[in-house]
Amino acid sequence: MKLLTGNSNKNLSLKISKFLKTKLVHSSIRKFSDGEIYIEVKENIRGNSIFIVQSVSSPANDNLMELLLCIDALKRSSAKNITAVIPYFGYARQDRKVAPRTSISAKLVSNLITKAGADRVVTVDLHAGQIQGFFDIPVDNLFATPIFSRHIKKNIKGKNLICVSPDVGGVERTRALARKLDVGIGIIDKRRPAPGKSQVMNVIGNVKNKTCIIIDDIIDSGGTIVNAAQALINRGAKDVHVYITHGVLSGEAVEKIRKSKIKNLVITDTIDNSDKIKKAKNIEVLSISILLGEAIKRISNSTSVSDLFK
Ligand code: R5P
Repeated sequence: MKLLTGNSNKNLSLKISKFLKTKLVHSSIRKFSDGEIYIEVKENIRGNSIFIVQSVSSPANDNLMELLLCIDALKRSSAKNITAVIPYFGYARQDRKVAPRTSISAKLVSNLITKAGADRVVTVDLHAGQIQGFFDIPVDNLFATPIFSRHIKKNIKGKNLICVSPDVGGVERTRALARKLDVGIGIIDKRRPAPGKSQVMNVIGNVKNKTCIIIDDIIDSGGTIVNAAQALINRGAKDVHVYITHGVLSGEAVEKIRKSKIKNLVITDTIDNSDKIKKAKNIEVLSISILLGEAIKRISNSTSVSDLFK
C-alpha cells in the first residue's frame, strides 16, 4: 500500500502518512505557464494499491483537475488499484436539479473520478449520503460525529445540552450526535431567499437556558451558522457551540464567526485552513487524520470500515 498526496492538503496527508508509518510517494505536481497541470510519479508503483489524498476545496477546479490527473497517472503507471481519498468532496451541494436548466455537479464529478480510473472512494461527511449512489464503485463515507462527541463530552460541562440542526436537511446528522450524547434535538427552519443568503424562519424545540450544540457538514460564507446562533440566543439559549466537518470559510466567514454569538466553532482539517483562522480565537481545528488513516488501514487489510463507528 502506498500513499500519494495532491497539493490541496499536504499537512493532512503528512499526518495520515505518519499514522500509517509510511512515506508519501515521491511525485511532482507542477504547472505549465498557461496553468495546465503536469503530474509525474517519480517512483515505481507497479502492482501497488495506491491511496491518493486530495480535497476538492478552493481552488476547487484546480484541485479537482489535479485529482483526476493523479488518478490517470497512477493508472498509466500500472497501480494495482487506486483509492481516491477525498476528505472534502467539493461540488457536492448540487446533487439534484434545484431549478430548471441547472447542472448536477455531484453526478458529473462522480463520473469524472470513475472515468479517470479510481477503483474506490473514501470521503468524510458527504453533503448528501445518496451521492454514494452516483458512483458504480465502492464509496466509504466516514463520519466526524465520533470525534465531535468525544470533544463535547470532554470540553462542554453542564447537563442542559441540546443538539440543534441548522436546517431540515441536517436532522439525521443532528440526531446521530444527540443519540451519542443522550440529549434532545432542536431544528431551525432555514430559508434561502437567494443563493448565499440564509434566513431563520422558526426554531423548533425549547432552547431556553440550554447550551446549544449546532452540527453541520459545511460552513461556507458562515451566514447559516451565524444567523442560527443569533436566533438561538434570541430565544434564550445560554450559549452556542458549533461543530462542522468542512471549514470552507469563504469570503468574510472567519471575521463573521469572530464577531458572532458563537462561543466556539470546531471544524476538522479536511480543508487546510491553517492560515485563515490564525486570528480567530473562537475557532478550533480537530484532525481527521487518524480516522482516515484507520480507514485506509482497514481497506488495505480488507477488514470492516463500518466497525470504526460502532
Ligand atoms: C447546506 O445545506 C449546508 O449544510 C450548509 O448549511 C451550507 O452550505 C452553509 O453555507 P453558508 O455557511 O454559506 O451559509
